[in-house]
Amino acid sequence: MTNKRSKISLLSKPKKRSKVRNFGKAMLILNLNLLTMYIGLLHTHSSVRYLVLIMLLIVIGKSLLGLVSKKPFEKIDNVFSLILLIVTHIQFLVGLILYFVSPRAGSERYFKFEHAFGMLLAVILITVARTTSKKMTDDSSKFKRLTYLNVLALVVILGTLLMGHLKIIGNTNM
Ligand code: HEM
Ligand code: HEM
Repeated sequence: MTNKRSKISLLSKPKKRSKVRNFGKAMLILNLNLLTMYIGLLHTHSSVRYLVLIMLLIVIGKSLLGLVSKKPFEKIDNVFSLILLIVTHIQFLVGLILYFVSPRAGSERYFKFEHAFGMLLAVILITVARTTSKKMTDDSSKFKRLTYLNVLALVVILGTLLMGHLKIIGNTNM
């Protein structure tokens, strides 16, 4: 009887240990995957900011020029404002995922509140600039709408970055 029991326990122990070891391995792989995803998203978010800022400057510049020199609203103006909207929405989506996986969003007040709400406001301004100007028929009204809402968005973005002592160009190591 004792022999049987000891045989069973001898056989079952390594199985339990390997289960624990496999679980440990799975957790390690999961954490490594999450870390890789976080680093990838952070690099994407950090790079796409330049596209957002460059496209904002292009759209503001072209709209101001169109307004001042009373140019017609051309196809290229529509393409630039569409590219601005797409890069802004990509930045928003990546930021939204970062919000839930970044350790900084969990622990730093700036990323939890100021950055998230400031940038959300800027994304809304850029989206409204595009969607409302698209519906307008008068060219100068289109340029006017694109100019003032995008200038407002640029001011909000720069203000929010400065509020968190984030560099406008380059990475921030806080
Ligand atoms: C959580 C993520 C997103 C939200 C909440 C969101 C929200 C919106 C909203 C509210 C509009 C305006 C719809 C209208 O009234 O015309 C819009 C349009 C659009 N979005 Fe997004 N979006 C998101 C992600 C994305 C991503 C990742 C992309 C591109 C890869 C994208 C590309 C576009 C495009 C192309 C339009 C239409 C632009 C136009 O022709 O005027 N969005 N989105
Ligand atoms: C136009 C929109 C945005 C711009 C220009 C922008 C810009 C930036 C910049 C420059 C950083 C610092 C990156 C670095 O140090 O390498 C950052 C980090 C971050 N952003 Fe944004 N952001 C935008 C929108 C958003 C939105 C809408 C959210 C969330 C709802 C968000 C969430 C975050 C988080 C959580 C971090 C911290 C990541 C970390 O260091 O762990 N961002 N953002």
